[in-house]
Amino acid sequence: MSEHTILAERMKSIQPFHVMDILARARQLASQGQSIIHMEVGEPDFTTPTPIIEAGMQALRDGHTKYTPACGIPELRERIADWYWQRFQVKVAPERVIVTPGASGALQLALGVLVNPKDEILLTDPGYPCNRHFVRLFEGKPISLPVTAKQNYQPSLEQIQQAWSAQTRAVLLASPANPTGTLLSLQLTQQLYAYIAQQQRTFIVDEIYQGLTYGQEPHTALSIADDIWIVNSFSKYFGMTGWRLGWLIAPEYALDSLNRLAQNLFLSPPTVAQYAALAAFEQPTLEITEERRLEFAKRRDFLLPALQNLGFDIQSIPQGAFYIYADAAHFSEDSHRLSLNLLETAGVAFTPGIDFGDYLAKTHVRFAYTTNLPELEQAVERLAKYLPR
Ligand SMILES: Cc1ncc(COP(=O)(O)O)c(C=O)c1O
Repeated sequence: MSEHTILAERMKSIQPFHVMDILARARQLASQGQSIIHMEVGEPDFTTPTPIIEAGMQALRDGHTKYTPACGIPELRERIADWYWQRFQVKVAPERVIVTPGASGALQLALGVLVNPKDEILLTDPGYPCNRHFVRLFEGKPISLPVTAKQNYQPSLEQIQQAWSAQTRAVLLASPANPTGTLLSLQLTQQLYAYIAQQQRTFIVDEIYQGLTYGQEPHTALSIADDIWIVNSFSKYFGMTGWRLGWLIAPEYALDSLNRLAQNLFLSPPTVAQYAALAAFEQPTLEITEERRLEFAKRRDFLLPALQNLGFDIQSIPQGAFYIYADAAHFSEDSHRLSLNLLETAGVAFTPGIDFGDYLAKTHVRFAYTTNLPELEQAVERLAKYLPR
């Protein structure tokens, strides 16, 4: 029997992360004593801020080890709703905040209640790769919107209108985006929302990198309209990737469906993580996260011109997240091979464009500045020595 006759058809379109082979080789080289600088990793190098860890340990001591309500503990839903008021002056009813296992859980819930078989979901290429796989999981059809540096890697209204069809169910964008670090301006968000709402369809904005912006105050698409669906997470700004905690904000009419699906898919979000996250919005934690944001800003300000000096073409300045998406055409027409080669020769690991889509993917790479400044400086020195001329 072959796996193709046994496993579901959809598994043919659910691809692995190509960066995993780079990561595996990097580990192998490191175990042989080679020094590797990691710029492929999409998570902060900082551990979770101490006040959150303390709150998590206290939660364990207090015996918070059981399931919680499927949409999260009321205290946390309230704290998140308060945060929108405190930080963005946006009013959100706590009932509209659904706590999930990471932004990943929020994306699955949102798409699970929205997508019918054959429905089309518009996504950027390059973009976060899991989204098209989630759409496929629910038998929908991901439709790619190729975006370029010139348009700040965000789709224009005209592009959305051209891609629109009777099957279009939703548009899913991220701001700041992965892999490009670019933001959706409030003006573009407004334009896109007006069109999508007129078509009576759904606009989902993934704000998982919210808070990690440089030279620009963070904002939320919720300030444009109450019925934009918002995905967010404690993973990045609050350095909690391993705790698996995020949230979804959805309109009233979807709450009952979301609750039912959350009950079935997850039973509850991780309990200890939820109690720990109550400390996330407190002043001592926010001081730490702000310090870290400033550190990321310093790294970006070093790395961006350094990569440009090396010959990478970066036309769109990343204003958020911790990524730089660079055109490496000057060095190679096969960025996957380039990544593997530079790992071997220079001991520098980064992610090939093919992990984020098809459009110009073979000439692009993503650098994550999730490692400290001295390492980044060393990475640039090594690249200068080993990049093909
Ligand atoms: C744009 C985007 N959305 C969602 C996720 C999922 O994150 P998590 O499930 O850890 O919250 C990631 C992770 O890298 C991401 O980059």
